[in-house]
Amino acid sequence: MCGIVGYVGPRPSQDILLAGLARLEYRGYDSAGVAVIDGDGALGVRKKAGKLAVLRDSLVDAPLPDGSTGIGHTRWATHGGPTDGNAHPHLADHDKLAVIHNGIIENFSALRDELLADGVVFRSETDTEVAAALLGREYAGNGGDLQRAFRSVVNRLEGAFTLLAMHQDHPGLVVGARRNSPLVIGLGEGENFLGSDVAAFIEYTRKALAIGQDQIVSITPDAVTVTDFAGTPVDPEPFDVSWDAAAAEKGGWSSFMAKEVAEQPEAVANTIRGRIQDGQVVIPELDGLDELFIGINRVIITACGTASYAALVGKYAIEQWARVAVDVELAHEFRYRDPVIGADTLVVSISQSGETMDTLMAVKYARERGARTLSICNTQGATIPRESDAVVYTHAGPEVAVASTKAFSAQITALLLLGLHMGRVRGAVADASVDVDELAALPEKIAKVLESEQEHVTQLAGWMADTRSVLFLGRHVGYPIALEGALKLKEISYIHAEGFAAGELKHGPIALIEPGQPVFVLVPSPRHSALVHSKVVSNIQEIRARGARVIVIAEEGDVAVLPFADEVIRIPLAGAMFEPLLAVVPLQIFAMALATAKGLDVDQPRNLAKSVTVE
Ligand code: M6R
Repeated sequence: MCGIVGYVGPRPSQDILLAGLARLEYRGYDSAGVAVIDGDGALGVRKKAGKLAVLRDSLVDAPLPDGSTGIGHTRWATHGGPTDGNAHPHLADHDKLAVIHNGIIENFSALRDELLADGVVFRSETDTEVAAALLGREYAGNGGDLQRAFRSVVNRLEGAFTLLAMHQDHPGLVVGARRNSPLVIGLGEGENFLGSDVAAFIEYTRKALAIGQDQIVSITPDAVTVTDFAGTPVDPEPFDVSWDAAAAEKGGWSSFMAKEVAEQPEAVANTIRGRIQDGQVVIPELDGLDELFIGINRVIITACGTASYAALVGKYAIEQWARVAVDVELAHEFRYRDPVIGADTLVVSISQSGETMDTLMAVKYARERGARTLSICNTQGATIPRESDAVVYTHAGPEVAVASTKAFSAQITALLLLGLHMGRVRGAVADASVDVDELAALPEKIAKVLESEQEHVTQLAGWMADTRSVLFLGRHVGYPIALEGALKLKEISYIHAEGFAAGELKHGPIALIEPGQPVFVLVPSPRHSALVHSKVVSNIQEIRARGARVIVIAEEGDVAVLPFADEVIRIPLAGAMFEPLLAVVPLQIFAMALATAKGLDVDQPRNLAKSVTVE
């Protein structure tokens, strides 16, 4: 949930740290801080509650003496509120040692008691300061060997953590460790970097090393050393970052979210690219891995939040094309209820960040029980793909706004690809050419929705800025999109919103309808099923009869909805499984425009962080 950056090299580190933190701010933005070892070998620290801008302003007003070794942190509070005192870095060894941390140290209370008994005085309520104090005590006790002290400390910590430390007596050295929390190395020329993800250093290098679970790294300007927690050297896995710094910039857009919504045609096209051959879906990463899909009797897709709604669309597609039963499980529920899984189960996890702790734990749990595992992920070098038997990467590019948009579309696209791939491998689909053509046409159709509905939906949102509650109804693959429309609105506009399966209406939710209640209804094409279409039209009539203000999303030419709709948003004709990728776009625009009309920060909504790396 926090963003971490470390630097050693010849350049002044403060600017590098601040630039890295700006790119990582999406991970947490309730406080930020930096520590730098200056040219005279003194440790300078500045940390501030509030967004990164507060820290930056303070450094402009009163700069720290600069040096070329530094660490920086942007926080999403877990232990202790967002105050200057609780912000990282935390200091120890007479303020000569600085530590930053992402995650939760579960045994911090016992360690704190131990240190209190030793006379340590704490200045914050954080678990991080406990790790810093432990490191300070260990370092002082072993004659000043930072790496040895660090190894000893990480072996005592329980829970999830990425930890970075530096000591003013060791300029040019930053040490780091990770357990169930992300950390990657950026390789420069005569300089090296550490970051929660590659965005931290993308401006300076695209060469990276992925650090495995329970590993420790030391960086100096000229060397990178990685060991396991016992001190045995290991070879980190090199990878090149496929996007550049410009991809992680706002590039003239009013917000990252606006940019990312607009990038959806490209994100979907990039996810499809190279995966259609001779009219068939062939996923090169899955070459030679047919055994993942043959002999299974069940697929479980596990994910959280928006990714779990993509999973619901995947359920419909995989069941239809691969003829195997699919269940969708929220990752945080999955491993706490003794699920029935084994060697004949394929567990597919979906995660944009690849670091969501709940999803990671679900994957580990599935593996421990002998299930086959495959992840769908947007982030190279992330933990979840490394813990899985196979990975299908989405190529949406970096997603910075907390509200997921293009990653969602890319996840659905990857699931459609996976469904068609599995259908072919399992011999369940004789001829997929129509669906493959539909897939290939998606980017253009999404672009069409963006072009034709942007203004209309923005206007609609402006009129509805005072709305206190919005409902979303969908059926079949429209149901997950109703859930996603509601989540988008909740998370960035703070308006009460609920998504329902349209058929569920009469079983309770219709009681919510009163005159003027806005309800979005996703209407499936009558070309796919006249019956399902007519059911949804009946639902519209039922809510309209009770005074609802009905906003319909329907395909071009569907006139059956006209007599009962206050507003009609049009999407191009598409196959049943492909409609969600079109219907979600107006809902994203609506949420964004409504939040903007309310004067809210759409990229950094309150209480949230992009990547939830704690359980
Ligand atoms: O990185 P992940 O895809 O694993 O994240 C999962 C959810 O935390 C994420 O989709 C969240 O729901 C978004 N804020 C939704 O916009």
